Amino acid sequence: MCDKSGYDDFMLKEIHEQPQTVIDTLKGRVLPDTGKLYISELTPLESSVSDIERILVLACGTSWHSGLLGKIFIEKYAQIPVEVQIASEYPNSDLTLNKDVLCMCVSQSGETTDTKNAMQTAKKLGGKIVAVCNVIGSSMAREADYAIYTYAGPEISIASTKAFMSQAVTFLLFALWLGEKRKTIDNNTVSAMLNELLNLPEKIRRVLKTEKTVKETADFYKNTGHFIYLGRHYNCPIAFEGALKLKETTYIHSEAYPSGELKHGPVAILDENFPVMIFVPAGKANDKIFSNLQEARARGSKVIAVMSEISRNDRPESDHQLYIPDCNEEVSPFLTVVVAQLFAYFTAKGLGKDVDKPRNLVKSVLAE
Ligand code: M6R
Repeated sequence: MCDKSGYDDFMLKEIHEQPQTVIDTLKGRVLPDTGKLYISELTPLESSVSDIERILVLACGTSWHSGLLGKIFIEKYAQIPVEVQIASEYPNSDLTLNKDVLCMCVSQSGETTDTKNAMQTAKKLGGKIVAVCNVIGSSMAREADYAIYTYAGPEISIASTKAFMSQAVTFLLFALWLGEKRKTIDNNTVSAMLNELLNLPEKIRRVLKTEKTVKETADFYKNTGHFIYLGRHYNCPIAFEGALKLKETTYIHSEAYPSGELKHGPVAILDENFPVMIFVPAGKANDKIFSNLQEARARGSKVIAVMSEISRNDRPESDHQLYIPDCNEEVSPFLTVVVAQLFAYFTAKGLGKDVDKPRNLVKSVLAE
């Protein structure tokens, strides 16, 4: 039986559960005695990993965003090309597959009709199907060739939060597992990344402690009619996820772009009435994103920068700053997403919206 455990809403409760979500997704997969990676569900796949030619990820909504992040991890660590498709578009594809194309069908509920249809299409076309689901025994998990569970526990709020976290962690584990088996990464890289994941719950707790500042920032912007979210590389999927969270909980018009795309058109709509949330954690992409930030400010937009604590003193260009703890850039999206979730939540609360049940939406979309 699920209750709100003293929180005002399931969404806030589920945001706060994320340190535990990470622990649960890692449980039994990072072996405590050896620190080694083990994913029992994938053992039957082991003998054919070197044959995988490409990976196709099929999903909708938030699960699609986790797939975008998964692509970055898999291509980096396992050197396999990954295509991420919106599930409802996939049945229109004319491309035949073969058993060396691994189709990862991602769904919190495991019941979303569009993703199920896409999975069935991919199966008919000859692909090998892996379902990545949260709900144990869901129909997608049963129908797939292999199922990987994400172990987020029950998610009640329609706006998905901890399910995203568990999918993203699962994708990183999967990428490391694949890289290890295909010998595209060394043991030190695997250990270093597993360590980053083991330290993640504490870092998420530190982000949650910044809740008051996020709420004040949300209160400042809550009456805006529009928002643009920008991010690069690891944080591009977070821009998409942040914009989705804001629009579904607040009904504010919000769009997201890879930040380099701003100058190719979207910059035209920026002015003092069009604020920007930009993800600029420390890392390789940092300098380029800062120049995108300056570009937005030059057009009169107010800018919220979600940045690393280490940059606290040297990057004062934005109007508001929200911080994440310093971390390896690969895990920064696991922290910036929490800021984006809290921002959407507090904006919605400030506007008096029913955050757990936004209008026109349901938890599992069974319509096509
Ligand atoms: O259960 P699924 O992961 O298949 O659901 C997919 C989307 O319907 C879902 O993520 C939706 O976008 C959420 N409301 C987002 O918060």
